[in-house]
Amino acid sequence: MTTPPTPRGALIAIEGLDRAGKSTQCDLLLNRLISSGIPAKLQKFPDRSTPIGHMINSYLTSTSNLDDQAIHLLFSANRWEAKDSILSTLNSGTTILLDRYIYSGIVFSAAKPPVPVENPKPLSVSWCKAPDVGLPRPDIIIFLNISQEDAEKRAGFGDERYEKKEMQEKVRKLFEELRGEDSNDKEDWWVVNAGGTVEEVAEEVWRGVLEALKRVKEGNGEVRSI
Ligand code: TMP
Ligand code: MG
Repeated sequence: MTTPPTPRGALIAIEGLDRAGKSTQCDLLLNRLISSGIPAKLQKFPDRSTPIGHMINSYLTSTSNLDDQAIHLLFSANRWEAKDSILSTLNSGTTILLDRYIYSGIVFSAAKPPVPVENPKPLSVSWCKAPDVGLPRPDIIIFLNISQEDAEKRAGFGDERYEKKEMQEKVRKLFEELRGEDSNDKEDWWVVNAGGTVEEVAEEVWRGVLEALKRVKEGNGEVRSI
């Protein structure tokens, strides 16, 4: 008798604006999965621990400057360098929580104001999406949705690049566009009202996770691609 193969883990992306509570929810969720007997791991993007991650970190903390295109490709390369490990972890039966993924990659780059001389047009969503095509596709994207009003009630921004009000407003619009893009992608998004208490948000997030686990169980075992 052969033993049945281990069912693969689910790939769950957590996305949202800054101050939506992503990191808090990721930590709670990781604990809940593990204490429910579901092996799980957290993978944060950008992963600042690799050589590419170091370059991203210097850019974000403004100790280095790069063209918009170059930094965009570094963020994508930082995901590609994690691809094999993501796939082997999933295939070994461990669920992965992604704290940001390609969606942040697309909207943050496309939200940047054009540089007047060198780069007079903003980067288009399709240009921004292209380098990520082929990466593992999440079984669900849990989007922590927070209103401008609620976001403003929370603690202020840090000093990193992009942590500015005008940028965040553009990011909000672009996330909305991305969520509505086409009917195929639409079902991947699980929008959670992130304005509630930590516990209320965690409950809604958990329902999204159960949905992802169900999709994996009903699927053919393969991880789809972007
Ligand atoms: P963090 O605060 O989650 O570490 O993310 C750092 C910043 O990087 C945040 O402002 C979002 C931005 N970002 C991109 O511009 N492109 C990407 O691909 C990712 C993952 C994040
Ligand atoms: Mg940050």
